[in-house]
Amino acid sequence: MCGIIGYVGKKNATPILINGLLNLEYRGYDSAGISTLESTCISNIKTKGRVKNLYDKDIDSLEGTIGIAHTRWATHGKPSDENSHPHLDNSKTFSVVHNGIIENYKELKSFLEQNNYYFLSQTDTEVIPNLIHYYYTKNNNFLKSVNEACKCLKGSYAIEVLCKNDKDNIIVVRHDSPLVIGVNEDDKYVSSDIPAILSYSNNFYLLDNDEFAMISNSEINFYDINLNKIEKKLKHFDYDITSSQKNGYEDFMLKEIFEQPNSVRETIGSHLSPDSLISFNDFDFKLEDLKNINQIYIVACGTAMHAGLSCKNTFEKLLHIPVTVEIASEFRYRNPIIDNKTLAIYVSQSGETADTIAALKLAKTNGAKTIAITNVIGSSITREADFSLYTHAGPEIAVASTKAYTSQIVLLNILAIYFAETLDFADKNFLNSLKNEILLLPNKIEYVLKNPDNIKNIAKTVASKKDIFFLGRGIDYTVALEASLKLKEISYIHSEAYASGELKHGPIALIENGVTVVSILTDLELLEKSISNIEEVIARGASTFVITNQELVNSNYNYVINIPKTNKFLSPILSIIPLQLFAYYIAKEKNLDVDKPRNLAKSVTVE
Ligand code: AGP
Repeated sequence: MCGIIGYVGKKNATPILINGLLNLEYRGYDSAGISTLESTCISNIKTKGRVKNLYDKDIDSLEGTIGIAHTRWATHGKPSDENSHPHLDNSKTFSVVHNGIIENYKELKSFLEQNNYYFLSQTDTEVIPNLIHYYYTKNNNFLKSVNEACKCLKGSYAIEVLCKNDKDNIIVVRHDSPLVIGVNEDDKYVSSDIPAILSYSNNFYLLDNDEFAMISNSEINFYDINLNKIEKKLKHFDYDITSSQKNGYEDFMLKEIFEQPNSVRETIGSHLSPDSLISFNDFDFKLEDLKNINQIYIVACGTAMHAGLSCKNTFEKLLHIPVTVEIASEFRYRNPIIDNKTLAIYVSQSGETADTIAALKLAKTNGAKTIAITNVIGSSITREADFSLYTHAGPEIAVASTKAYTSQIVLLNILAIYFAETLDFADKNFLNSLKNEILLLPNKIEYVLKNPDNIKNIAKTVASKKDIFFLGRGIDYTVALEASLKLKEISYIHSEAYASGELKHGPIALIENGVTVVSILTDLELLEKSISNIEEVIARGASTFVITNQELVNSNYNYVINIPKTNKFLSPILSIIPLQLFAYYIAKEKNLDVDKPRNLAKSVTVE
């Protein structure tokens, strides 16, 4: 959940490292630091707080053309100067930045203390430079020392290491945390992700687990865990850097909400042609394998899990196979029933979520077929899954996921249709109508986004509330869950989502004068029942805000937002949009940092 960046080249490292950290701050921003290699020593400046706080510590005084840097999301040890990275060993021979968690750090710490090492921080990371130094005193070899130290580590790590006795090289290695190497003539860049160094290069090496790289400005040598030299393929990514900028919007989140007509258009265009033909690249999921499937898991975290929940009924109706949607951090520990008749679909915007990747490995170990649905090409999850499908929503920078969610639902629906056509037993007219509705989505999203000020005005009336409830039945309940998460994570207002029919089984006791209840009403078959549930809360003094694609007669609701009709499997893509804006405008009314909410990070690469 942290961001690490490194540079080796002929330019002054510090401004490049600072720029990289600013691009990585969405991964964690409670402290930051930089080490550079200068003539005979390692210079190290670090601070609690945001990257910009480094300027208060005279960061421009750092010289040198080789350096490493880190922006932190605290796991072990509170945010503080001494717990910030980089960490040096006692002799200041090595400097290390780390993304991940060393699970056996206590054991290693006591081993090192028995060998007369001492510690200045409460972090797990600080054992790494001292362990490297321990081996260096025995073999006097930078690469071998890093390799020996890593063999002792348990947990997840992506690390970059400087050695004051090696003026030319950075050594990097990863295990379960992401790391990419950008190349541009004499300059080499190392980063937790591609967008952070995209302004410097479009050519990258993607390190796989337990691969080491020794990087100088003139060459890169790759090694496996036994230090055998290996070859890596340089990959070109045609990302457009401007897509990572705000393009005139006040916040990345607002930009990404308004990007949804295009991001959904991109997702559709990548897999469904205007004449309704579906194509997936490198996806030779065999018919006999599909026929053999008797259960489907959709496994994810947070918003990605809500997207999966929204698509459960599509898969069940089209394939007649039971679908269970699982929270990855629960799935991986509950010994689920998995065998070679299981299909496990993993949804992850970043493709780096530790729990989701671990849950995928569990399914593979037990013989399941695995598919990853992700937004980041080359992400770790794509290297674990049997098949990977991409949402092509473009970089999603805001911590609160918006365009990834709508693209995930589109892609999951297209995948369900693809399987149904492959098995050839679903109603062809229904499939065609569903594909036609998918093709109409971008224009319908544009319609919903036409009047954001309506939502803004409603948001202002509830920004001071302490509790807001979201209700829905069926697929609308999955939207209520996602809307509630959006509100919580950026406005810090407590919120609950309930299946409307569940309210009277207890939670309705919370309804009293002035409580705000937001209801989503798109499922015609459940409309009357949902309307009754809203009357129940109005009778107890609640103020009501309704999102609907139905004509509601004589509604006594405080606010109603009408959205276009679509196939009910696709309705979350339209009903969530006013609720994304609702959460956004409430957070802005409270003057909060909507792109980087407190306590959060964009990519949860630790458990
Ligand atoms: C959503 O707004 C949150 N930022 C969070 O719940 C997120 O969806 C979750 O951490 C999963 O991330 P992933 O899609 O990158 O795996």
